[in-house]
Amino acid sequence: MKELLLSQFLLLLMLYYPSCHSLDTITLNQTIKDGDVLVSSPRGTFALGFFSLKPDSKTRYLGIWYNKISEQTIVWVANRDTPLSDTSGVLSINNGNLVLHDLNENKNVKPIWSSNFSTSTSFGDSSAKLLDTGNFVLTHDNEKNILWQSFDFPSNTLLPFMKLGLDRKTGLNRFLRSWKSPNDPGTGNFTYRIDPTGFPQLFLYRNKSPTWRVGSWTGQRWSGVPEMTPNFIFNVSYTNNEDEVYVVYGVKDPMVLSRMVLEETGHVRRLTWQPSERRWFQIWYGPKEECDGFKQCGSNSNCNPYNSDKFECECLPGYEPKFAREWYLRDGSGGCVRKRNVSTCGSGEGFVKVARVKVPDTSKTRVNESLGLKECREKCLEDCSCVAYASENEISESGCVTWHGDMEDTRTYTQVGQDLYLRVDAHELAMYAKHPYGSLGKKRMVVVLVISSCLVLLMGIIFVYWFVKSRKQWSKRDPKYSFRLSFDDSSNQQEFDSTNNSKFFDLSSIAAATDNFSLANKLGEGGFGSVYKGILSNGMAIAVKRLSKYSGQGINEFKNEVVLISKLQHRNLVRILGCCIQGEEKMLIYEYLPNKSLDFFIFDKSKSSELDWRKRFDIICGIARGILYLHHDSRLRIIHRDLKASNVLLDSALNPKIADFGMARMFGGDQIEAVTNRVVGTYGYMSPEYAMEGQFSVKSDVYSFGVLLLEIITGKKNSGQYEDNASTTLVGHIWDLWREDKAMEIVDQSLGELFSEFEFQRCIQIGLLCVQDYAVDRPSMSAVVSMLGNDSTLPTPKQPAFIFKKSNYESSNPSTSGGIYSVNDVSMTMIEAR
Ligand SMILES: *[C@@H]1O[C@H](CO)[C@@H](O)[C@H](O)[C@H]1NC(C)=O
Ligand SMILES: *[C@@H]1O[C@H](CO)[C@@H](O)[C@H](O)[C@H]1NC(C)=O
Ligand SMILES: *[C@@H]1O[C@H](CO)[C@@H](O)[C@H](O)[C@H]1NC(C)=O
Ligand SMILES: *[C@@H]1O[C@H](CO)[C@@H](O)[C@H](O)[C@H]1NC(C)=O
Ligand SMILES: *[C@@H]1O[C@H](CO)[C@@H](O)[C@H](O)[C@H]1NC(C)=O
Ligand SMILES: *[C@@H]1O[C@H](CO)[C@@H](O)[C@H](O)[C@H]1NC(C)=O
Repeated sequence: MKELLLSQFLLLLMLYYPSCHSLDTITLNQTIKDGDVLVSSPRGTFALGFFSLKPDSKTRYLGIWYNKISEQTIVWVANRDTPLSDTSGVLSINNGNLVLHDLNENKNVKPIWSSNFSTSTSFGDSSAKLLDTGNFVLTHDNEKNILWQSFDFPSNTLLPFMKLGLDRKTGLNRFLRSWKSPNDPGTGNFTYRIDPTGFPQLFLYRNKSPTWRVGSWTGQRWSGVPEMTPNFIFNVSYTNNEDEVYVVYGVKDPMVLSRMVLEETGHVRRLTWQPSERRWFQIWYGPKEECDGFKQCGSNSNCNPYNSDKFECECLPGYEPKFAREWYLRDGSGGCVRKRNVSTCGSGEGFVKVARVKVPDTSKTRVNESLGLKECREKCLEDCSCVAYASENEISESGCVTWHGDMEDTRTYTQVGQDLYLRVDAHELAMYAKHPYGSLGKKRMVVVLVISSCLVLLMGIIFVYWFVKSRKQWSKRDPKYSFRLSFDDSSNQQEFDSTNNSKFFDLSSIAAATDNFSLANKLGEGGFGSVYKGILSNGMAIAVKRLSKYSGQGINEFKNEVVLISKLQHRNLVRILGCCIQGEEKMLIYEYLPNKSLDFFIFDKSKSSELDWRKRFDIICGIARGILYLHHDSRLRIIHRDLKASNVLLDSALNPKIADFGMARMFGGDQIEAVTNRVVGTYGYMSPEYAMEGQFSVKSDVYSFGVLLLEIITGKKNSGQYEDNASTTLVGHIWDLWREDKAMEIVDQSLGELFSEFEFQRCIQIGLLCVQDYAVDRPSMSAVVSMLGNDSTLPTPKQPAFIFKKSNYESSNPSTSGGIYSVNDVSMTMIEAR
C-alpha cells in the first residue's frame, strides 16, 4: 500500500512538473508500475517504462526509448521474450537484483524478468538509475559499484558509448540481436558480434552461420566497411588487449542523437535524428552488395563487383578454378586451387600486391604486432606455409598478419581498402611485375594490342602536330580560320573534327554571340554555372554554359570527355555542339531550346494547364527513353546523377530533352557531388544510397526518374514540405494514398477531367517502384520503358526510401505523440553544419 501511494505520488509529481521533478532513480522501496516512467537526468534524453508496439495490443514490454522525439524509438527491451499480457507489470529492486513481476501473481513465483546477476550477499542500499546515455545502471554503495547495467545486455540497438564486444575475463559478450519482427522485440535470428578467434573480426550472423564478415579492425575502420572514415560528428575507438576486445562509437556533440540498429531483415543501419524534420536520417547501412555475402566466391578467390565481364568471382593470382566447368558457367562456389606444377618454395617466388581489398578471413591468421611491412614480408617469405601477408594497421602500415592455408572471403573495393600481398611462383611474379594485378591485361593479346595501338597513336599525334603547325600559320593570315577549332593537342582532335558536328569555339566568337555575356542574355543559373543565350554570326541560336569552379581534371581530359559526350545523340537529349576553353574559362555550347525547363511548366499554376495528360505521358516516356539511351544504348553508359525537373528542357513542340548529362564524367565524381551539395532542392531527387554514401549506379538515376515522374503527374514538388503535413514529402504522401487505394486524390487539378485513370494509376505505381528503398528492388530503365509502353501487370512496390515505419503510441506513453509518417527530402543540414 505504501508502495502504491508513493508511486502514485511520484506519478502526480511527474505529471505536474514533468521537466524538473521527473524521477531518474529507483531505490529499494520504490517501484515502477505500468504508466510510470523514469526519465534520465540531467537532460532527459531517455525514458524507461512500459510500452506496447501496436496501439491495439495488450502486450506490454519494459524498455527504454528516446524521451524527446516524436517517433517511438525503442532502444532496449528487458522482457523481450516474456511479454506481459496486461498492464500489471511492476519493476522493483529485490535482493539486490532488478526484477519485473506480474502484480497478479504471487511474489514467490519466478519473475517475468530479472537482472539475474549472481549475488551471494544482499546489497541493501542498491539503487537503479537511468543515465543520459540511455544506460540503466544498478549500483550499490552510493552508486560506487556497478552491479548490472543495460549496456551489457543490448537488444537490437547500439547507442553511443556502449561497448560492442567481449570481456575476455568474465566471458561477457555484448552484441546486438535483431527483433523477431517490427512488432515483436523477441529474440530474432540475426546477431552482430565480435568473434575473437584469431585476429578479432566483426560478423553478422544469421543463427549460427556468418552472412557478412564486417572484418577486422584496420586502424580506423572495419576492413569490410570502406565508407567508415573519421568524421566530425562521430568518433570510434577500438580496444583489443588481454582483458577485452570491443569497439565504442561516440558522438562528439552530445546533442546529436545517433543509434545503430540491427534490423529483422539482417541489415545494420546507422541513423541520426534530424530535429528540424523530425525523422531518423540514415547515415550508413550494410551489407550492400552480393560481394559482401560471406564466402560469395569460394576459397582463394576474390569477389570483384566491378568486373567488366560481369562475373564477380576471380581467382587470386597463382590460383585457378577448382571446377573449371562450373566456373565457366559462373558458379564460383567451388573456389580456386593453387595452379598445378608450380613451386612457391625456394625457387624464386615472391609477392604480388592485390590492392584495395577486404583482406581474407583472419580467424586463422598469425599476428605479430611488432613487425613492420618489410619484416612481415621477410617472415612470410621464409615460411613456405605462408600464402599471404598484410599489415594490421592500414594507416601506419604496422603489425603483421599472415595467412597459412586457404584464404576465404576476399573482395575488392574501388577506392579504399587494404593491400594484400600474395605468394606466387617465379613465373607469375615476372608476369605481374609487368602488369600489376587488377590493371589492364592478364592476357598477352591485350598487351600486344595496347603496344601496337600506342605506336599508331604516336604516329598519329606526330602527323596531327605537323598538320596543325602548318594550318596555324594559315589561320594567322586568314581571319576566317580564327573561328575554326584551334588544333593544339591530342589524337582525339581528329575524331572530333571528323564527325563535323562538334567544335571548339573561340572565346571571342562566344563573347560576341552572347553580347559579352550580358545580363539580358542570361537564361539562368545552374549547378555548374550560368547559362546564356547566344546567336552565332551564322544566325544559329546557341545556349552557352559558362562553367564556374572547375577544378577537376586537366584540360585534355576535359576535352576528351566533351568529345565523347557530344557524340551521344538522341532526340531526348540536349545536343552538345562543342566547347570553348581559354585559360581559366571553360564553356559548353548547347543547342538552344526556346521553351524553358520542365519545372517551369509543371510547378506553375498558370503554365501547367499547357501540359495535358497526353503531353505529360509523352514527356514521361521521352525522359525514360533518354535515360535508357544513356544507361544502355550509348557507347559510354552514362549515369546522369542529377536528374530533376529543371534538367529537362522542352523544345518548341514540348518534347523533353535531358540536359547536363555527362557532367560527372567531365568533372570527375567529387566535383559533381560538391556542386549538387550546394544546389538547393536537388536532394529531393537523390536516392538514399547516393545521398548518404555517395554511391551511385544506374539505379540511383531510376530513383530520380521515379521522383520526377510523380512530380509530373501531380504537379507538386517532392522537395520541401507537403501541404498540411509538415513532415511529409510528395513521395511519402503518395505512398500513403496508394496504400489506402486513394491515389486518385493526388492528381494534378489542372488536368481537369481529361485523363486516363488507368494510365494515371499505372504511372503512380511505376513511380513508386522506382523510388523503392533498396536499389536492387528498383526496375531497370529498360523495364520502366516497357512498363510505360504496355499494360502488363506491375509488381507491388515496397516502401519507398526515407519513409520510416508508422509509429503508433499508446496513450499511456507520455513521451510520444500520434503516429506520423516521417518522410524526407534529404536535407543536408547536418552534413553541412561544419
Ligand atoms: C525502506 O523501507 C524500510 C521499511 O519499510 C525502511 O526501514 C528503510 O529505511 C527504507 N529504505 C529506504 C532506502 O528508503
Ligand atoms: C537466471 O540465471 C539462471 C542461471 O544463470 C537461470 O537458470 C535462470 O532461469 C535465470 N533467471 C531469469 C529470471 O532469467
Ligand atoms: C529464424 O530461423 C528459423 C530457422 O531457420 C526459422 O524457422 C524462423 O522462422 C526464423 N525466424 C524469424 C523471425 O525469421
Ligand atoms: C568522442 O569524442 C568525445 C568528445 O571529444 C569524447 O568525449 C568521447 O570519449 C569520444 N568517444 C570515443 C568513442 O572516442
Ligand atoms: C611440370 O613441369 C615440368 C617442367 O617444367 C614439365 O616437364 C612437366 O611436363 C609438367 N607437368 C605437367 C603435368 O604439366
Ligand atoms: C614478433 O616478431 C619479433 C621479431 O621477429 C619476435 O621477437 C617475436 O617473438 C614475435 N612475436 C610473436 C608473438 O610471434
